[in-house]
Amino acid sequence: MSKKIVTLSVISVFSAIILLWLFYPPIINVSDEVSSSDEEIEKGKYLVTAGGCISCHRGQTELTSETLAGGLGIETEFGTFYAPNITPDTSTGIGSWKAEDFIRALKHGRQPSGGFYYPSFPYRAYSKLSDEDVLSMAAYLMSQEPVSMQIPDPGTPIWLARWMIAGWNKLADLSEPFNEIYDDAQLNRGAYLARNLGHCGECHTPRNGLGIPDYSREFAGAELGDEIIEPIDADSLKEWTANNFDIFLLLGLKPDGEFVGGDMNEVIEHNTSKLTDEDRDALAAFFTRYNSAGG
Ligand code: HEC
Ligand code: HEC
Repeated sequence: MSKKIVTLSVISVFSAIILLWLFYPPIINVSDEVSSSDEEIEKGKYLVTAGGCISCHRGQTELTSETLAGGLGIETEFGTFYAPNITPDTSTGIGSWKAEDFIRALKHGRQPSGGFYYPSFPYRAYSKLSDEDVLSMAAYLMSQEPVSMQIPDPGTPIWLARWMIAGWNKLADLSEPFNEIYDDAQLNRGAYLARNLGHCGECHTPRNGLGIPDYSREFAGAELGDEIIEPIDADSLKEWTANNFDIFLLLGLKPDGEFVGGDMNEVIEHNTSKLTDEDRDALAAFFTRYNSAGG
């Protein structure tokens, strides 16, 4: 065999391995059925609230504003992304989804067809949710009244295609922090709410030029469009007690007597103010204790 042919076959084997690594479908082990038990639906309703899904997926017309019919346009430097209709309508929503489709979407950022979602859908944060929590959310979503509402495709620049997100996902994986396990159940719960379900870092953690969160500066504040997002890391919360944080999550009232503004208002209204006392305490404990312990 000539040297050239050997080189070419080595290159093609490597390319095939890299393509497989990038595009291989996630392995998912769940049954096909989404539960319709009242208990699961109730639990899912709470998780959908705690997960902030409503802030993005709430319907944008007068008739749909109380539903998850979507339509909000999220403007980013990579284009405008529209939150889809996640009511169980079969033609314009997720009516035909199976349990595994919910795991694939929320934990892996992949469409039922295997295609890639754009990360304006915060699936990176949701990737560490438990399968049980995702399936409870699925039970709640499937129990909703279907709404027929066609949502526009994302308005992305011509060079940005869905398949490119394969590479983005791998880079984002590499930058992810250890999911530290504390020897305190309340801190673990707080970390799960802050980093995963409540996705506080999606706004509060700065990103690099590719839009990948820089976890070495977790919660160090960021800029989102022209909105300044305050840091909520150790240094910046030195003066806050757990009780201050609790009141903030419930009412948006800061220790200095000011009310918070901007997008954080939405987060307080639709998400943190509706948490159980235990979950609010866990978040407060995480941000005040984990931080003061030096991360
Ligand atoms: C920051 C805004 C935002 C939040 C918060 C959010 N989503 Fe989304 N979601 C999106 C966007 C944008 C897309 C579409 C991404 C794309 O076009 O690739 C999406 C896509 C989806 C899809 C796929 C729908 C389809 O038709 O393919 C599902 C299901 C979904 N989200 C469920 C949820 C759930 C459940 C939550 C809460 C745990 C949630 N989302 C929180 C913005 C958001
Ligand atoms: C959609 C983006 C977004 C998400 C998600 C988000 N925040 Fe915020 N947050 C903001 C913005 C914007 C501000 C600044 C608002 C202002 O200008 O008053 C803020 C302010 C704050 C402040 C006040 C900081 C200070 O020193 O004044 C705290 C504390 C805070 N957020 C905690 C959280 C926690 C905890 C979570 C997760 C449960 C969270 N945020 C999720 C956007 C977000």
